[in-house]
Amino acid sequence: MDTSLFIVFEGLDGAGTTTQSRLLRERLERVGIKASLAHEPTENPIGRVIRDVLQKRFITTRETLALLYSADRCDHLYNPSYGIMKALDRCEAVILDRYIYSSIAYQSIDVDGDYIRMINSRYPSPSHIIYIDTPVEECLKRINKRGEEKELFDEMEFLKKVKAGYDREFDRLDNSTKILKVSGNGTIDEIADRIWDFISSSI
Ligand code: TYD
Repeated sequence: MDTSLFIVFEGLDGAGTTTQSRLLRERLERVGIKASLAHEPTENPIGRVIRDVLQKRFITTRETLALLYSADRCDHLYNPSYGIMKALDRCEAVILDRYIYSSIAYQSIDVDGDYIRMINSRYPSPSHIIYIDTPVEECLKRINKRGEEKELFDEMEFLKKVKAGYDREFDRLDNSTKILKVSGNGTIDEIADRIWDFISSSI
């Protein structure tokens, strides 16, 4: 399999991955590269169970949630009708908003990190990671604007741990995956330009 353009966006909640993944897709299409855009957790059946857990409609354990994220990912990659591996095998570009690094950064806060790595270890590595590094305070402002609930302090402590998890994990990457850590402090267009410089040098 040639994973020449398997691009993953990562960042804290509110970092801007959804906006930037859409803009990158538009830019790729403008230069004639068809790219599919997807996100995790998905809208497929296992992803819907995850949303139920996140919205407290289904109460379960942290470990079960970690397994659900991994199962949603496995289904998203390999499902016989909508699995994204088919597109990757055809060497089509795939842009994914969150992937295994989200599991490592988020689930390792409550569940043993080696276990989280183990249940995500069989999935293919992306060719490129774009990590939008937006300060925790700015992410919190954006999350609060969206009207999500949570104690400010808890959220701040939580996001700081997620950020530390991302930093640790990205230090461990081997050089088969290219990574861009882009500051989320710029304007939407400035960030999109930096991302485009990074990706267009590979195409
Ligand atoms: P996301 O859909 O990106 O957030 P939003 O609903 O705001 O667009 O992801 C939902 C939450 O799931 C987010 O807090 C990050 C978290 N998450 C994990 O904890 N582990 C994972 O493996 C993934 C993919 C997401």
